[in-house]
Amino acid sequence: MPSILLIGASRGLGHAMAVEFVRKGWHVVGTVRAGGARTPLHGLADTHPSQLEIETLDITLSEQLHALHGRLDGRVFDALFVNAGTTNPDPNQTIAEVSTEDFVNLMITNALSPMRVLEKLADRVRPDGLLGVMSSGQGSIANNHAGNESYIAAPRRH
Ligand SMILES: NC(=O)c1ccc[n+]([C@@H]2O[C@H](COP(=O)([O-])OP(=O)(O)OC[C@H]3O[C@@H](n4cnc5c(N)ncnc54)[C@H](OP(=O)(O)O)[C@@H]3O)[C@@H](O)[C@H]2O)c1
Repeated sequence: MPSILLIGASRGLGHAMAVEFVRKGWHVVGTVRAGGARTPLHGLADTHPSQLEIETLDITLSEQLHALHGRLDGRVFDALFVNAGTTNPDPNQTIAEVSTEDFVNLMITNALSPMRVLEKLADRVRPDGLLGVMSSGQGSIANNHAGNESYIAAPRRH
C-alpha cells in the first residue's frame, strides 16, 4: 500500500486530498493542529481506521516539527505533501495597510515553514519519493490582478 504524509489535512483541500488518497487505496498520515476541535479528518479516520492515521503539527513551531520527526522514526513514505497554509484576514489590504503582525504571520506560515517541513521530514520519504507543496494562483505575480499584495509577497510558488 503506497503511503503519504499529508501536512495540514484537517479540513479544506488537505482533507479533500486525504479523502482522495484513501479512495485510491493509499495509507495516509494526516496532520492536524493539536488541541483543536474535532475536524473532518477525524471523521475520515473513523470510517477508514486501517488507512488513516492522525498526527499533530503546527508547521510554525520548530519543537513540534522536531517531535513529529522523532515520532516518525523508522517510517518511510512514498510522498510528503505540505498543504498547510493561511491567508491574511483582509485580502484587500495593501502593503501599506496590512499590519506587521499579519504580514509576518503570512510569511512564516506560507514561505518559511513549508520549506522547514520539507527539509526536516524529507528523510522520512524514500529517496525516489515525491516532495510537494501546495501552491496558489494567488501567489503568482504575473497573473495576479486581484490585488492581494501580502499574499503575493509570501510566495506560494516553490
Ligand atoms: N482554496 C483555494 O481556492 C486555494 C487555491 C489554491 C491554493 N490554495 C492553497 O491550498 C492550501 C489549503 O487551502 P484551503 O482553501 O484548503 O485552506 P483552509 O480551508 O483554510 O485550510 C488550511 C489548512 O491549513 C492548516 N494550517 C493553517 N495554518 C497551519 C499551521 N500553522 N500549522 C499547521 N496547519 C496549518 C489548517 O489547519 P487548521 O484546521 O488547524 O486551521 C487547514 O488544515 C493553502 O496552502 C492555500 O494557499 C487554496
